[in-house]
Amino acid sequence: MSLSPQDEAKRRAAARAAEYVVDGMRVGLGTGSTAAFLVEILGARVREGLKMVGVPTSEATRAQAARLNIPLSTLDETPELDLTIDGADEFDSALRLIKGGGGALLREKIVATASARMVVIADRSKQVAMLGRFPLPVEVDRFGLESTRRQIARALGELGLPAAPALRAGRDGHVFVTDGGHAIFDCALGAIPRPEALAARLCAIPGVVEHGLFIGLATSVVVAGPTEIETLGAS
Ligand code: A5P
Repeated sequence: MSLSPQDEAKRRAAARAAEYVVDGMRVGLGTGSTAAFLVEILGARVREGLKMVGVPTSEATRAQAARLNIPLSTLDETPELDLTIDGADEFDSALRLIKGGGGALLREKIVATASARMVVIADRSKQVAMLGRFPLPVEVDRFGLESTRRQIARALGELGLPAAPALRAGRDGHVFVTDGGHAIFDCALGAIPRPEALAARLCAIPGVVEHGLFIGLATSVVVAGPTEIETLGAS
């Protein structure tokens, strides 16, 4: 089956980043449709003899990698990783990201933080001049949901941002629950002029488990367009 041009770009970005994986590496495996191409490519290389161990960022990625016989570990057994390769919902020229569209932001951030390098893979549509076009996911404890929603709304309002966090629903119409058992508020902000300030403000709310702003984590972004492929940051 032939891929759409966007999927073809995702696959090419994943293939380029997969070249960074060499024998002996401990690799964080991202989540989402772009990361799924990476896992597929690494699975083929493992079949051909690549020696690596993967730490998945979600149960979905764990299942895919296990099907492909990629040797897997956990951060408890393997607390320090050489490299994480993951997708993103948005990135800017400072390699700041919004992640969490697939709901895996907490584990994605834990795994990326445990890694010496984080390489982001994306098609060109994910590149923005200013973060915020993609609604910012904020993962919260399910205890006291409405109270936490109001705290988030207040924090957004204080920073001059639209204050309407929307509780994410799953395909079944019920509250979406993350692998860690939490809920997510999606915050449609339009533009985030000061991502660092917003990140700090959200982290100060007790019910917030994590937010989808990834700042200072990505060391490079491999971005593929219809014909070209480019690496931003250190390769
Ligand atoms: C998962 O929670 C997300 O952070 C994904 O990494 C992000 O949404 C990118 O997904 P796609 O590659 O499917 O666009």
